[in-house]
This record gives sequence, structure tokens and C-alpha cells, in this order.
Amino acid sequence: MISPRQELREITAALRRSLAAERADGLVVLTGLPPARQPPVSPPSAPEAPAASAVSTPPPPVPEPRAVPEPPTAPAEVAAPAAPVFQPQVRALDQPSDALAPFGDLVGRVAACRSCTLCDGRTATVFGEGSPHADLVFCGEAPGYEEDRSGRPFVGAAGVLLTSMIENGLRMRREDVFILNTLKCRPPRNRAPSPVEAAACRPFLEEQLSVLRPRVIVALGNSAVRSLLGEAGGITRLRGTVVDALGAKVVPTFHPAYLLRNPAAKRDAWEDLKLVMRLLAEPR
Ligand code: URA
Repeated sequence: MISPRQELREITAALRRSLAAERADGLVVLTGLPPARQPPVSPPSAPEAPAASAVSTPPPPVPEPRAVPEPPTAPAEVAAPAAPVFQPQVRALDQPSDALAPFGDLVGRVAACRSCTLCDGRTATVFGEGSPHADLVFCGEAPGYEEDRSGRPFVGAAGVLLTSMIENGLRMRREDVFILNTLKCRPPRNRAPSPVEAAACRPFLEEQLSVLRPRVIVALGNSAVRSLLGEAGGITRLRGTVVDALGAKVVPTFHPAYLLRNPAAKRDAWEDLKLVMRLLAEPR
């Protein structure tokens, strides 16, 4: 069990790494950059030679050679810093490589999907990961920067917190739950999914859940609640309740990214996790 101080240290480090990676990718506007290079200034041109004349006049005094200022040399080409090799902030799962086999061709269909415009900007689709036999599923919103790079769900700063909620709160291994998202592709700049995108991706979510048949689904944030329950109501109203849907008990709670911005809400999130534990402990 890690202490809250240690957890905070890990999340802060994860946020720093995310920011550095996004900066390297040009997603964060850099301030304090050196000014743009100026074109080289050409040296002043020599004065026109006087026209030859028939009258012989003494040649004008030869001016002392003046030091011609060197044209400013263009600064040596500075190689752009290489983008750091992307490192997910959440360790790889310790599970067999065929863990997704029960989903059959669904994995390939998700990877090949071109049902909405998000396919144009993605690096990778993010199917989800964990145990296909899990009783407990966590449903987030959509892949973010790190997830789009790695093809894994919740591996950035929010993922560090989610993993801590699973491992330190629920005392389960990340390997033993299943983590997925309402969308399988990253929306630009991590904006919320549009209704069109959510509708295009929902059949995949339904198919995943029909294979998983979990007992409890934790809906992380408004987008997940909307996709799973069709509810427009905000998470603040719904959290703390249990909704029967999709053959499971759905527990709405705050999204970990919200908890990172609003640590005071962690108290309510902990109540929701205790509710999840009670539901999992009920006889089948
Ligand atoms: N936020 C989400 O909703 N899902 C992820 O996979 C990562 C961040």
C-alpha cells in the first residue's frame, strides 16, 4: 500500500512526463523561444566608380580601406530535439499475450474502423485491456495522448491514479479487471466525444460488454455515463447510485482526470469504490 504522499509524487511525475512528451510533439505552446532567424544582411555595396573623363584630373585620394563588416553568419542549423521515446506511465500488464482472444475478430474490426473522422488523426486504436473474465469493468471516456501513442487505455497521469484506485483502493490487480473507453480513438486535443462519435463507437462497446459480461461496470465521468446509460444527467447527481443496465450494476463515479484537478472529490470517489466492493461481495 503506497502512502498518499507517494501517490502524489507518482502522479506529479506522471504529469511532468506527459507534459514533456506533449511538448516534444508540439502540442504545448512553448514560450520564451528565441526570435525567428533574420535573413543574412548583405554588405553595403561599393560606391559607383567615377565616369572616365577626357580632362586629366588628379586621381581622387584613395580612401583608406574600411573594414567591411562581415555579413552576420547564419546560426548553425540546430537539430530539433528528438521526440523522447514514448514510455507509458503504467507498467505493462502481466498476462498472456492471447488475453484478447475471447473477443475474436472484434479486436481487428476496431483497429480497422473508419466509421467516423477520428480515424484520420489516430496513431493507434485503443481497444482496452485486462482480464476477459473480469467481474469488474472500468469505462472511461476516450484515449488521450499517451493512450493514442501506446494503444493502451489509461496509461497517462489519469491512468496512474486509476491504477492506484484499483490496486490500493480495491486491493485488486489491474490485470484482473478490464479497462476500456466509450471511444476507441483519441479526439483532437482530448476534447469530449461528440454525439456522432459516441454513436459510431457504441456498437463496439456493446460487443465488448457482451463478451465480458461483467457484474459491475464503473462509469468514469459524464461521457461514460452517457454512453452506458443514455443519461444526460451530470455525474454529480448520479454518483453514489447503482443503475441496472447492460446486464450489470453500473456505478457512476468521477473520472480520474477530474479527481486530479479536484482532489477533494476523492472522498466521494472512495465511497463509490466501497460501493463497488460491496456489490462484488454480493452472492451471484
Ligand atoms: N482518459 C480516458 O477517459 N481514457 C483513457 O484511456 C485515458 C484518459
